Amino acid sequence: MNNFRSLQLLNKYSDDDIAVGCHILNTAGIKTRLNGENLVLDFDVVNMKYIENQQNKTKELLANVLDELLKIRSFSSANGKIVFKSFNKDKKVSGKKENKEKRLGYESFKKHFAKNNNDIPNQFVNKIHCANSLVLLQQFPDNCIDLILTSPPYNFGINYNNSNDVNVWDNYFETLFAIFSECVRVLKDGGRIIVNIQPLFSDYVPSHHLISNFFIQQGLIWKGEIIWEKNNYNCKYCTWGSWQSPSSPYLKYSWEFIEIFCKNTLKKEGNKEDIDITADEFKKWVYGKWSIAPERKMKDYKHDAMFPEELAKRAIKLFSYQNDAVLDPFNGAGTTTKVARLLGRRFIGIDIDSSYCETAENRLRETDSLFNQEEN
Ligand SMILES: C[S@@+](CC[C@H](N)C(=O)[O-])C[C@H]1O[C@@H](n2cnc3c(N)ncnc32)[C@H](O)[C@@H]1O
Repeated sequence: MNNFRSLQLLNKYSDDDIAVGCHILNTAGIKTRLNGENLVLDFDVVNMKYIENQQNKTKELLANVLDELLKIRSFSSANGKIVFKSFNKDKKVSGKKENKEKRLGYESFKKHFAKNNNDIPNQFVNKIHCANSLVLLQQFPDNCIDLILTSPPYNFGINYNNSNDVNVWDNYFETLFAIFSECVRVLKDGGRIIVNIQPLFSDYVPSHHLISNFFIQQGLIWKGEIIWEKNNYNCKYCTWGSWQSPSSPYLKYSWEFIEIFCKNTLKKEGNKEDIDITADEFKKWVYGKWSIAPERKMKDYKHDAMFPEELAKRAIKLFSYQNDAVLDPFNGAGTTTKVARLLGRRFIGIDIDSSYCETAENRLRETDSLFNQEEN
């Protein structure tokens, strides 16, 4: 019980009335206690009918208690019993606006980047580049990309053709953050970075937190996190840690994380005519858990770590306008670039491996031939 009411009743009633009244109240579910001139009531579920039926005994006292109880708005009733919501839980927070101003929100972390945006030079646009992102991105001007959508190499030991996917974590993050620093630089004022991350749970390295912390330290605004629920309950690993023992149980996950960051401002300017998300899509996708099956064609595309087209479609439509410049610095088999193209965005895909780049280009050609078929 954790609802309290204190009634100034005692000077009005005889000791006998109080004793009988308290007994009735206790039976009805109210704990009573005397505190000086006050009768303190403590309750959660109260049998109101029972109290009503006893009113002939200590009429005024019980009527007074009933009145007091009914003044409390937060209750529901069933079978003559009233269930009160906890006062504490139900308390509204007052001064929300002032509190928000005091906390400063993301302003405590945010940096102020230059606001003047630049055009992305034509030589980079609507192309797949076979390159090390760190090197190529250095040739891009500041503030020229509207949206970066990517999933970095996992450091799991995935068999990427041309890059070593197992490194000491420190080295892994150093290399990754050098590329992500370039990403922050090339992002426009109001631009977004969306990163799909699969932590290596068995190494107990929370890469989704470390990467988020990196972007926050760089001064970006953390816009939010989406859980990508893959529903793959038959996860390949069958380890339970310490089976049926609290010594070290192993937690299992059927989801990955999608972290979203903004540069300078949460709001992205754009033309109304360039919005292509429907009302239904918007309603569904702003809910921060996306249930999407993993990519099924990884074997066909000869890439072991792709995200599905549906994920790219939702991220691109929810966070960019048509004709925006969309970059993927770890483009792999070209899911981002294919979907960006399909959705009328300009795209830039970079991958260090030439055979992945070839796949990405083939997927673009397939997309273009679909467009052409539709036109004829
Ligand atoms: C997780 S995969 C991305 C898969 C992609 N999202 C897709 O759906 O196909 C990461 C990719 O990063 C590429 N990569 C690793 N280091 C790179 C670097 N320094 N520059 C560019 N690409 C790199 C790998 O070749 C790999 O294809």
